[in-house]
Amino acid sequence: MKISATKSTLRQIRTEATAIFIPEDKNLFDTEISSLKKIFGKSILDLLKSENFHGKENETISFYTHNKLPAKRLYLAGIGKIEKVSLEIIRRAAANVAKHAEILKIKNISYRPLISGIEKNNKLPFEKIAQAIIEGSMLSLYKFDKYLTENKKDRVRIKTITLFDSLDSNIRILKNIIHKTEIICNATYLARDLANAPANEIYPETLAKIATESARKYGYSAVVWDKKRIEKEGFGGLIAVNSGSAKPPCFIILEHNPEISNPDTIVLVGKGITFDSGGISIKPSAGMSEMKMDMSGAAAVIGTMEAAARLRLPIRLIGLIPATENLPSGSAMKPGDIIKHYGGKTSEVDNTDAEGRLILADALVYAQKFDPELIIDIATLTGACVVALGNHATGMMGNDENIMARLKEAGETTYERVWQLPLFEEYEKQIKSDVADVKNVGGRWAGAITAALFLKKFFPKNKDYKWIHLDIAGTAILEEPQTYIPKGASGVGVRLLIEFLKNWKSGDHTRQ
Ligand code: BES
Ligand code: ZN
Ligand code: ZN
Repeated sequence: MKISATKSTLRQIRTEATAIFIPEDKNLFDTEISSLKKIFGKSILDLLKSENFHGKENETISFYTHNKLPAKRLYLAGIGKIEKVSLEIIRRAAANVAKHAEILKIKNISYRPLISGIEKNNKLPFEKIAQAIIEGSMLSLYKFDKYLTENKKDRVRIKTITLFDSLDSNIRILKNIIHKTEIICNATYLARDLANAPANEIYPETLAKIATESARKYGYSAVVWDKKRIEKEGFGGLIAVNSGSAKPPCFIILEHNPEISNPDTIVLVGKGITFDSGGISIKPSAGMSEMKMDMSGAAAVIGTMEAAARLRLPIRLIGLIPATENLPSGSAMKPGDIIKHYGGKTSEVDNTDAEGRLILADALVYAQKFDPELIIDIATLTGACVVALGNHATGMMGNDENIMARLKEAGETTYERVWQLPLFEEYEKQIKSDVADVKNVGGRWAGAITAALFLKKFFPKNKDYKWIHLDIAGTAILEEPQTYIPKGASGVGVRLLIEFLKNWKSGDHTRQ
């Protein structure tokens, strides 16, 4: 798929199909339609009537232009009341067009990012609108079809997406934002591909290989620890979870260094369970195949590292990924086992299916070695988070309200929304263990919170590291598609984290 910007007008653009956005407000709607009337004549009014098109959100119509325009087909995408138009409305409108055009086997589409009345009535900048169009169209056309061998030649894919405008100054804006947005969407594609790939393709060593290839290609560094090194360093959680698997674990360390001096350091930690059967506390078989996506946190970290390096973000960004399968076998860890984690703290395994927190604990302690301004972990950690928030919000917990507010804002901009859950200390007694420093499950209630409190135990009391935990169990894995997210792996986290990191100012968040 190639995305480009070109200087053109609706009357000149030569792509197979072209799309314009129509607001619902009467005066704006009428102005748009009257200029269409000049092209198509009065019949356009009958068409709008018969199609019941009023410019409302999610209304999309298209018609054959009968040579009245160089483009063969024109799309009108409704975006609702101009004052209420948001980036998400534009993403969805652009996605509706792209998906429809794909069904019609159209290969080239274009969009006009200029929306009439937007400057007067809404604060959305031209650049952000263009970004939303690219995101909505690109992300909606994603397919995981590399394993399909039949009917390949019948499948027609959109090859080019063009954004057009008549002003040279806007073309410059478009070219710049296309470049950046393509990087971010491609990184989201990478995260989706990694998570959708079955566990016989993506396991710790192959995950590490892909991360290493990305690092080499885009100029950041990758170091991969093998099982021997992981044992030697004392990553007891990762070794314990791995003990039932025939495939060795990996610990992946990624690092992006910016060109500026004295950048802040941020560490991202991603859960890399390449398949979660539950282990000895085995999961029911219905739906277990979804657990090939239990490395969605790792996928988000790899995607974010790639995009951050390509965008040359002015921060030092470290990505840490503990990777293993969680399988039962004669050598597997068992309920009742006690683990000694990296750094010396111990945990009691009450349920081998609460494995994510065991491998994250080692990595979170290791993260502290970089003396970072912030640590963010991202993980498909608990079914309880899915019960609480469903598929429409990522659970967020942490110890810095200011940084959480910034993440919330990034979530609203990208529509990868996050919602805070509390870490009240009263919940802590649920994970008290009689035999170890902490127990890996906290009973029936508040499972997303007790999982986060388990992780919190691995931060020292006397040093206040800033830490945010993102539970993406509900948002990373979709049973139903959303407008521009096909079912399966959503790639959630990449756009959220890049938006957040892009707004990070080094030096603003020094620790005490
Ligand atoms: N990977 C799962 C969490 C999960 C559930 C992710 C559904 C995506 C969708 C995690 O390892 C797990 O199994 N958690 C258990 C914890 C419990 C045993 C305390 C859970 O949530 O049931
Ligand atoms: Zn599990
Ligand atoms: Zn898991």
